[in-house]
Amino acid sequence: MTVMTQTIALTVNGRAVSVHAQPAARLAHVLRDELGLTGTKIGCDAGDCGACTVLLDGKQVCACLVPVAQAAGRAVTTVEGLAETGQLSPLQQAFHRHGAAQCGICTPGMLMAARDLLDRNPKPSESEALDALGGVLCRCTGYRKIVDAVLDAARPNGAAAPSPAAGAAVGARMAKVDGAAKLTGAESYGADGFPEDTLHLRIVRSPHHRARFSVGDLSPLRAKYPGLVEILGWRDVPGSNLYGIYPTGKDQPVLAQDEVRYRGEAVLALIGDKHTVSAIRDDEIPIAWTRLEPVMGITAGLSTGAPRVQPAKQGNVLTRGNLLKGNLENGWRAAAYKAEGNFHTSFVEHAYIEPEAGWARRVENRIEIHVTTQTPYMDRDEVAHVVGLEKDQVRIVPTACGGGFGGKLDLSVQPLIAIAAWKLGRPVACTYTRPESMAATTKRHPAAIRARAACAADGKLTAFEMHADFDTGAYASWGPTVADRVPVHATGPYFVPNIKNTSTAVHTNGPPSGAFRGFGVPQAGIAHEALYDMLAEKAGIDPLEFRLINAIKRGDATATGQVLQHSAGLPQCLIELRPRWTAWRRAAEAFNASSSVLKRGVGIACMWYGCGNTSMSNPSTMRIGISRDGKVTLYNGCADIGQGSNTIMIQIAADALGIAADRFDYVMGDTDRTADAGKSSASRQTFVSGRAAQLAGEDLRRKILRLANAGDSATLALDGTKLTISEGETRRVVDLAALPADKNGDALSGEGTFDPPTQKLDANGQGIPYATYAFAAQMAEVEVDIELGTAKVRRIAAAHDVGRAINPTQVEGQVHGGIAQGLGLALMEEYLPGRTENLHDYLIPTFGDVPEIEVIFVEDPEPLGPYGAKGIGEPALIPTAPAIFGGIHHATGVRMHFAPATPHRVREALVKAGVVR
Ligand code: FES
Ligand code: FES
Repeated sequence: MTVMTQTIALTVNGRAVSVHAQPAARLAHVLRDELGLTGTKIGCDAGDCGACTVLLDGKQVCACLVPVAQAAGRAVTTVEGLAETGQLSPLQQAFHRHGAAQCGICTPGMLMAARDLLDRNPKPSESEALDALGGVLCRCTGYRKIVDAVLDAARPNGAAAPSPAAGAAVGARMAKVDGAAKLTGAESYGADGFPEDTLHLRIVRSPHHRARFSVGDLSPLRAKYPGLVEILGWRDVPGSNLYGIYPTGKDQPVLAQDEVRYRGEAVLALIGDKHTVSAIRDDEIPIAWTRLEPVMGITAGLSTGAPRVQPAKQGNVLTRGNLLKGNLENGWRAAAYKAEGNFHTSFVEHAYIEPEAGWARRVENRIEIHVTTQTPYMDRDEVAHVVGLEKDQVRIVPTACGGGFGGKLDLSVQPLIAIAAWKLGRPVACTYTRPESMAATTKRHPAAIRARAACAADGKLTAFEMHADFDTGAYASWGPTVADRVPVHATGPYFVPNIKNTSTAVHTNGPPSGAFRGFGVPQAGIAHEALYDMLAEKAGIDPLEFRLINAIKRGDATATGQVLQHSAGLPQCLIELRPRWTAWRRAAEAFNASSSVLKRGVGIACMWYGCGNTSMSNPSTMRIGISRDGKVTLYNGCADIGQGSNTIMIQIAADALGIAADRFDYVMGDTDRTADAGKSSASRQTFVSGRAAQLAGEDLRRKILRLANAGDSATLALDGTKLTISEGETRRVVDLAALPADKNGDALSGEGTFDPPTQKLDANGQGIPYATYAFAAQMAEVEVDIELGTAKVRRIAAAHDVGRAINPTQVEGQVHGGIAQGLGLALMEEYLPGRTENLHDYLIPTFGDVPEIEVIFVEDPEPLGPYGAKGIGEPALIPTAPAIFGGIHHATGVRMHFAPATPHRVREALVKAGVVR
């Protein structure tokens, strides 16, 4: 198709350039596509996220909103123009030092907004920083470290801390090994770095929640658009058209056949040049739809006579989970106090700032896919399944991942770009639009929970019962994982002798619910923590002390009967919070005595979380090599999705080997070059892959010491191709160049595998589902405007038993980010299919929403973990919402039973309780 372009002259990063573009083309696209400046990111293409922020004549603008013609004759500065004489600028250094970039996809926009501020105001206040950066969204960091970095940017000599010496990496606040690339725009994400001759793929999706359809004659469309190279329908899928997480649950079509089961389901794929595939209007595509009454919500899904969403699933039940411990009736009989309640939560969208993206190419009889992902090895296996290839014919090369949180554990672009590239023999890329990302991909399961709990007069819990129904949407995805994990965790981290927990995953015509930071445990946490607050009140016991009375500890049996042998630091977490708790509660009550409309309250909540897969083998293998020219490489199959695993795996491996961390290079997740480290989920990578990295380092060290006939106290030093092993006065030099190389070019190598020991659960859910658990207690101070129903979180204290903080800066960042997402779950995030498919209708926390956060580490070492470490990714989020709800109750006397507690719901509850009229 003809595209009218003009030559437009502008200055970019101090260099005069001319671009040939349509005048209305957006600056962000021109920078990326015409000038190759892919440091400018596109998160929404609609002015909502700020990822595309650049400076135009020194002022921040959203480049996705600016027509390139408006930039004619003006100066544009992008992140690539920030570094000074090849060095990170002081602002970039401050970001590096503070760990302000996690996944890094928002970082260019943050840096540009900060540059604008600092150019006008070199010493801004915190509120000035919040204002200036307020248009840029971050889903990972909780913003606190970004604010710290901006306020610290003017500090002289503020380079990142020196890299730790050999043997001192674990526990060091080492800057991210991939930090500089994220700060300069050099990092390549899913939508970056497509080869020149790449075709683009656009997916045609269902506009209906449930419908039958037929595709008409496509030849007029092909004739009208010569740039349209191929159209794929379900018949073009060469292997299985069905995929899914579980071998027995492959129920989701790559392309729908005759029927769609949720709005956003893929129906056809259009492949051609980028302009053509995006120019085709939906109404030009001959699809005849017959709408069917959709099954929306848990109640509809379970109602008698509801249509079956999946033909094979009677009653729309995907799966059930259950757990039975002790004798529930005895527990009720022994009780002095009882509490019960119903709780509901909504669909929650991951809202990572990087939409799904990647590209594929055929390399002879193999397919190679460069993609943003949390799970390269599962991707490899699933792509082989749908393309009809052997696993070793598929290579996944993960790009940097701009946030995942569970949402990039499922396939997105992978199958279709693979099929198209395989068929066409040309590179094929696909980048989801923001609405597409939100409509088509998985969500947190909405939950409907009934629960009751009981305690004796002394506050000791005697019984607990919960049933949770989860809306698992149209396809299975991770629904079985949620149904299994919730009964295990549903009592919270407390000793309860008598328990009955059940769960059901219910199919509906909602979007598939999948993995989202916690696998259902955050929803259950809202229920159990509310019940314990109620019991504490009835028993006349302070809420923190009630939790301390019941906190599970070493030697106690969990709900599954597993006796905790090690690392169970919850009591210490509560003890750490106790002085803050007393002071904050007192301050809130004093405030309320003189305030009629604004009311403050402080809530507390605890959590536990089993690190790794539930009762399943989930091994990880890591390798380290030293090449003949003296380069140390960690072959790391674990996808770094922003959590910092690239860095902490090196910290662990470095100390195990005895060589300084800054000598390490790494390969991340490339399935041709690494071993399977499993997926980046379930808070397992630090614990499982970290242990594997430790074992790999120890293995390599053992081999080197054997080569040198040296004892374990020997030290290693690398200088060029010379590896020196020193023990007392004795030195032995190994000439690496003289050794034969393996297929990676390494002269020496070590390998470690770790599979955490678990046990299958029996019919009553008894057994050992996890090798270790993380624990935490968080408290939140909340201010409620009882007239408006608005709730604002003023401060949070978070005490986390992480076993060992391998990198305290990274762990704090995980806690901050988890808390921000927990705050969103509590107060604002509600995905409504068809209604909140963009980042202005779907609200996530911004700079102004995330309060001051104090992070307290409790390090109760886990002997199985690397240097004692456990996981932190999910634990950070789980207690936040219930702590906030506890704060609302303390402030107003009203208990929220629905998340999110949006102003209209809070106000409704206040009116119902007679607090306001
Ligand atoms: S990409 Fe421009 S504001 Fe989101
Ligand atoms: S670091 Fe901000 S979105 Fe990931």
